[in-house]
Amino acid sequence: MCGIVGYTGHENAKDIIIDGLKRLEYRGYDSAGIAIQEKGKLIVRKKKGEIKELEKLIDGEEITGTTGIGHTRWATHGEPSDLNAHPHVSADGRVAVVHNGIVENYMELKRQLIEDYGILFESETDTEVIAKMLGVLLEETDGSLSDAVYELTRKMRGTYAFAAIAADNPGEIVAFRKDAPLIAGVGEGFNFIASDIPAVLRYVNDIVLIENEEMVVATPDSLRIYDENHNLVKREPMKVTWSLEDEEKGGYEHFMLKEIHEQPKVLKETLYRRLDENGRIYLDGIKLDSEDLKNIDKIYIVACGTAYHAGLVGKYVIEKMSRIPVEVDIASEFRYRDPIVDEHTLFIAVSQSGETLDTLAALREAKSKGARILSVVNVVGSSVARESDDVFYTWAGPEIAVASTKAYTTQLVAMYLIALYLGDLTGSITEEYYQRILNELKSMPDKIQQILDRSDEIENLAEYLYNRDQVFFIGRGLDSAVAYEGSLKLKEISYINSFAIAAGELKHGTIALMEPETVVIALATVDRLFEKMYSNIEEVKARKAHVVSIAKEGRTEIERQSTNVIYIPDCADEVTPILSVVVLQLFAYFVAKIKGENIDKPRNLAKSVTVE
Ligand code: AGP
Repeated sequence: MCGIVGYTGHENAKDIIIDGLKRLEYRGYDSAGIAIQEKGKLIVRKKKGEIKELEKLIDGEEITGTTGIGHTRWATHGEPSDLNAHPHVSADGRVAVVHNGIVENYMELKRQLIEDYGILFESETDTEVIAKMLGVLLEETDGSLSDAVYELTRKMRGTYAFAAIAADNPGEIVAFRKDAPLIAGVGEGFNFIASDIPAVLRYVNDIVLIENEEMVVATPDSLRIYDENHNLVKREPMKVTWSLEDEEKGGYEHFMLKEIHEQPKVLKETLYRRLDENGRIYLDGIKLDSEDLKNIDKIYIVACGTAYHAGLVGKYVIEKMSRIPVEVDIASEFRYRDPIVDEHTLFIAVSQSGETLDTLAALREAKSKGARILSVVNVVGSSVARESDDVFYTWAGPEIAVASTKAYTTQLVAMYLIALYLGDLTGSITEEYYQRILNELKSMPDKIQQILDRSDEIENLAEYLYNRDQVFFIGRGLDSAVAYEGSLKLKEISYINSFAIAAGELKHGTIALMEPETVVIALATVDRLFEKMYSNIEEVKARKAHVVSIAKEGRTEIERQSTNVIYIPDCADEVTPILSVVVLQLFAYFVAKIKGENIDKPRNLAKSVTVE
């Protein structure tokens, strides 16, 4: 998704901004550009394609200015092209703007600019309206860019963050945030603004989070923040503790593989940080107690994509352990269906980035109806976290690959810990059960490592199956939730048409698609449902499907009905998703690798989806 970086200081802005943009590449983009203040003018260069195309464009050009803004664009209004790439400029070319998000009323503003001022537009973007409008407003504000930005934001509707520079305001960057992420990085003699912390982490660790409807004015020696009424706000920076190393590949061929291999380590982090000295769960960011819980009669878990799949597991374990009814919903659906939410509802938002617009909008919808908001988030200080009453940080560290892996398994651990915590508060589980599941969770990092150590088995399987056109994933109970995640992983990075279905549903239609050699990945890890699942496997095997079963060690009877079997270490039924998904992550990874796909940045996808 789009990324913004702005730098003002005494070094070469172009180099620093391009370096920052590269740190945002993982989010997905289709063009890139920069605007630099240079000897009383603005130099604007932009190019469709990867950042290296932009670098080629400016190679050999002397651009020495020390203030500028840059952007990676993920097309929303208008196709990816040089013209639609950001920055966009005012009619006189003396204001440049980069922008993330959407200006909903841009058509209306555009018409006004054309009719009242005779302004011509060159791109199809909504962003160009911001640049052109700022050019007009600057005349009315006697050249004050911050006043012009303030005026403009009174006229604009939508969800956005943008940054602007003007040729006549040397050293100044003005940025504004409305429902899209924006941060400032604080240095000595220089400052940054950016859409994401990783963009500036090489240069600063002191970060100021910009709140909704706030404007930030950065110069080399000052950083001023104004609230929605244009009052100055005082805010101390927070220290970011990730290192740059966390964001590098560390010898792995792809970030995705690195992140898959980090799972034992990050799961320990997520789990052990939540255990007190007596070995009981202590959820630091969650204030919800047994009194609050008496008031809760329903739980919603709402999320998108992989985070939604973690919610499917969450529904199962939270209902089982707390006996409170749980509904799981896709965030983009939830907000438009007039959900039954009130002050007796606990709303759990799950989001790696904490910036997914649909999830954020669903959260706001639930909040406006009185729900208590608990979020499970990876990025500290993200919008979802900030707008929640209680926060569970997953501590997975930065996840760079677009396909989520370690964030998902830490979300699962969060779901188990929340389920046990609620189960304990409601008195619905025994102490023996509580300790048993906790011990199972503690054994997960080593058991994941055992699967990782046998990666070659999964790679061999991928070599055999990588050229198939379609793959089906089936499972029952918790296994069906993992089937959805396995299918998503495969399709997003290998572009194979994959389909997941609860195995018991097969015979109600989908079995019509079974032919000799159709690939079916059958998850049969749940002992309680093993026989039922075995029958479903027989159903597809009878149609001569190629069945790859995933089962617990010891369940060798499954070999009779399977073409291949991948075993996971033995564990309680409740926690099998944490292990079986690792097999599916590796399978998707190896298939995509053999096919030669762009694993960390799959086509059409963005890491953080900040548009509707
Ligand atoms: C995961 O592999 C996906 N790329 C995607 O489904 C992702 O999980 C979804 O967009 C939600 O993102 P979030 O967790 O940052 O809210």
